[in-house]
Amino acid sequence: MDTLLGRRIVVGITGSIAAYKSAELVRTLTQEGADVRVAMTRASQRFIGDITLQALTGHPVATDASAEGTSGMEHIDLARWADVIVIAPATADFLARLAHGRADDLLAALCLATEAPLVVAPAMNHAMWQNPATRYNLTLLRGRGIRVSGPASGEQACGEIGPGRMCAPEQITEDLAGIFATRRLAGQRVVITAGPTWEPIDPVRMLTNRSSGKMGFALARAARDAGAEVWLISGPTHLAPPDRVHFHPVVTTEEMKGAVEGCLPADIFIGAAAVSDYRPAEPQREKIKKHDERMMLALIRNPDIVAEVARTKPRPFTVGFAAETSDLVSQARRKLLEKGLDLIIANQVGVPGIGFDADDNEAVLVEQDREKPLSRMSKDQLARRIIDEITERAPSAPVTPV
Ligand code: PMT
Repeated sequence: MDTLLGRRIVVGITGSIAAYKSAELVRTLTQEGADVRVAMTRASQRFIGDITLQALTGHPVATDASAEGTSGMEHIDLARWADVIVIAPATADFLARLAHGRADDLLAALCLATEAPLVVAPAMNHAMWQNPATRYNLTLLRGRGIRVSGPASGEQACGEIGPGRMCAPEQITEDLAGIFATRRLAGQRVVITAGPTWEPIDPVRMLTNRSSGKMGFALARAARDAGAEVWLISGPTHLAPPDRVHFHPVVTTEEMKGAVEGCLPADIFIGAAAVSDYRPAEPQREKIKKHDERMMLALIRNPDIVAEVARTKPRPFTVGFAAETSDLVSQARRKLLEKGLDLIIANQVGVPGIGFDADDNEAVLVEQDREKPLSRMSKDQLARRIIDEITERAPSAPVTPV
């Protein structure tokens, strides 16, 4: 599964003997590609050392003591940063404080300040778990949309047997993945292009660009997690093909065009590839030798893949990207109209930290009569936002049988 890839997860640890399992949870989430931060209550530090968690995540652990040494806004920063917060283990006391909206330590304040989904993995003695006070607190929490992972039943630290053991880290990981795997595109066929194209000049040289494929691959994962059947057609990149996605590697624009045509009809097409507008008119069979001071390279126009897709029948909901160095929105709108697209994602290139080959990106969604800025975030997060926006606009009934 790579549903958790690039997800920002805060693991909150409270004071229970089960805290030792949190280290395993953090390790599992990190192995799934999540970006994990840990926040601990004072009580939890009697059960597991913050150094262990720091070593596993590669980041300092947020505690009441660490908050004292900073701006005091650590809980707000983490609350905004998180895609999801999971409290594992969650003691009866912490559930009670959460149910009553307390903010009397960093972890409780973090839970109160966040808009991210919250998951709790309870761990306590079976009698405490079954106590009406705990049951009532759980009802309050569930009513607020807080998800409960576990608990499991079995022998407890106190030697008694019953429900209240923190469930296995693998189970919590699966429950977290379930939060992100929506089914809003279930039954829909989505075709995405990604990466650069290589246009040969001779057997050793080519015309290409800086696209890494990260944006298009992130879109493929996001569409798959939304339940779509996804075809990803990519120019040469160093990225591993996403799981459970049909992957077609190509090299040139002509090959990309052929692969796209082979995947149509589709319900949604997204052109995230940086396709070469031109290619050498006469690629040479032999390596070109050095002769004169100047040499001319004749280029001819490549087919415009996204524009051709927008003209096909049945026509998919067609989304393009516009990579611009200036006049972002006006250039993007021009391309939207010229290529006959439903939506275009304008992104600035030539700026460090975003665009080509960066892990982050920022964009403006441009339509004929409106635009919507999406501020800087990871490409995985941006891809999920874009898929959400497409889902709201694309016709919901699949036009193709899958
Ligand atoms: O791959 P990354 O390193 O993650 O970088 C991501 C990105 C910057 C490449 C990506 O976000 C992006 O902007 N992709 C489109 C780049 C591009 O070619 O833009 P353009 O403005 O030249 O083209 C406009 C649209 O037409 C694009 O959807 C493009 O795929 C499509 N096109 C262009 C030319 C062509 N011959 N055929 C096409 O389909």
